[in-house]
Amino acid sequence: MIRIAPSILSADFGRLAEEVAAVAAAGADVIHIDVMDGHFVPNLTLGPLVVEAIRPVTDLPFDVHLMITNPDAFIEAFARAGADWISVHVETCPHLHRTINRIKELSKKAGVVLNPATPLTTLDFILEEVDYILIMSVNPGFGGQKFIPSALRKVSELKNILRTRGLEIPIEIDGGINLETIGAAVKAGAEILVAGSAIFGTENYAQTIKSLRQKALEVLTV
Ligand code: DX5
Ligand code: ZN
Repeated sequence: MIRIAPSILSADFGRLAEEVAAVAAAGADVIHIDVMDGHFVPNLTLGPLVVEAIRPVTDLPFDVHLMITNPDAFIEAFARAGADWISVHVETCPHLHRTINRIKELSKKAGVVLNPATPLTTLDFILEEVDYILIMSVNPGFGGQKFIPSALRKVSELKNILRTRGLEIPIEIDGGINLETIGAAVKAGAEILVAGSAIFGTENYAQTIKSLRQKALEVLTV
């Protein structure tokens, strides 16, 4: 199942609620929300208040990607604000098992995220616990960066590991996804495709989401 997740990082923040409503109406499956703290990543974005403010706009799942040090301190606030999925970077979690279980105790889907240089071996003892895995295909912090090709090998190796272990956990990919890269990402095994600038940088969101979906499905049917 292919899901397109527009990242609101590239939306017009002055009209954020309208932008979320627009991508929802344009056929998005998930709304990807990037939370940055200026410590773990060199940029600052938004907190639970903003998530709460845009929550009434759509029933689509809110996929909150926490790029913050000590995510444990904010998980509950984002859960209350309306997050449906919450993902944390393995690089920020010394007690990853506890953090993942905290998210699940709050009845939210729990995801783990790997930076481009972080190996898959870090997931070995947590795989059974997670609801989705997010592979970064850029260094987190900014929209509009170039896709890092080694992410494809990471996704396909992860897919093999999941298959071997009999786990059906969706793989999400984030960074540099556009009409040129989406096919390769899906071929490698990604099912949830985050795209920021590729969607919000265009005039017609519906047309762009449709084209992205088409490219993704094309790969699966050949
Ligand atoms: C990067 C963020 C991404 C970002 C992707 O740190 O996690 O979600 O919005 O932007 P694009 O799709 O423009 O690479
Ligand atoms: Zn993201």
